[in-house]
Amino acid sequence: MSELSIISGKSSEKLSKELSKKIKGNFVKSEIRIFPDGESKITLIGKISGKKSIVVQSIYPPVDTNLVQALSLITKAKENSSEVIAVIPYMGYARQDREFLPGEIVTMKVLGKLFKGAGASKIIVVDIHSLIGFKHFSIKTKNVTAIPDLVKYFKKLSLKNPLVISPDQGGKERAKEFAKEFNSNYIALDKKRDKKTGKIKITTKNTDEVENRDLILVDDMISTGGSIIKATQFLKKQKCKKIYVACTHALLMNDAEKKIKKAGVTSIISTNTIPGKTSKVDISKIIAKAIM
Ligand code: R5P
Repeated sequence: MSELSIISGKSSEKLSKELSKKIKGNFVKSEIRIFPDGESKITLIGKISGKKSIVVQSIYPPVDTNLVQALSLITKAKENSSEVIAVIPYMGYARQDREFLPGEIVTMKVLGKLFKGAGASKIIVVDIHSLIGFKHFSIKTKNVTAIPDLVKYFKKLSLKNPLVISPDQGGKERAKEFAKEFNSNYIALDKKRDKKTGKIKITTKNTDEVENRDLILVDDMISTGGSIIKATQFLKKQKCKKIYVACTHALLMNDAEKKIKKAGVTSIISTNTIPGKTSKVDISKIIAKAIM
């Protein structure tokens, strides 16, 4: 029996299998039954073996359900092994890392307590929205980046004089990193989001840098698609050529994908932190590296 068990959460089953092959762990599958009231009933298929367990469960929608399943799997793993690492490829709640408006609860603080309480001694995530979220964790934390793998994908496309764009100043460093790997330049737009309504506005004035060039909009995540749509509408007016989107986590809520395409985006490329139509880039290798 392997000294290492990979406990696969339902939200990351395929990814867990890939990971298990790479690190040669004992693969333990979980089966889920959702009761009519929304509760999750989890059954493990297989036995946890070895001293170390890795629980893999992304926290995408339904966020609270997937979170409770992750915590339950960690609790069970801790009963059967001395060390538990939580691999949370997409860290839901990461945007709630500080009190933006008075009275707001910093949910990342709550999550820090929950993961520790369940028995995880370390958490590994991919391209977390901001490292500020981890300030609320007292267990070991590791953020790995999917940017080099996303760049590899884009290197295979024949883009015309490409330019990397961040839809906001907050994503500037990400765009810079992408552009460095991709060997191109980058710019960051100015975006304003109303903290109460969530309404987005691009406040950058005209820019002639994008004219006649293919663009890659780089972001950590797409939720409603609002940020990408507003950026695309602005860039199209500046007479760019094709617009591609590279993001780590494609939540694509409601019909975000359709709306993004309608705004003029040629293609969205994301990773399998959230499995779906756009998740063309596999992150199992970078997670395996972070575990070993
Ligand atoms: C914002 O700071 C993030 O990096 C993303 O740009 C944002 O959360 C995406 O959300 P939406 O798709 O709803 O605009």
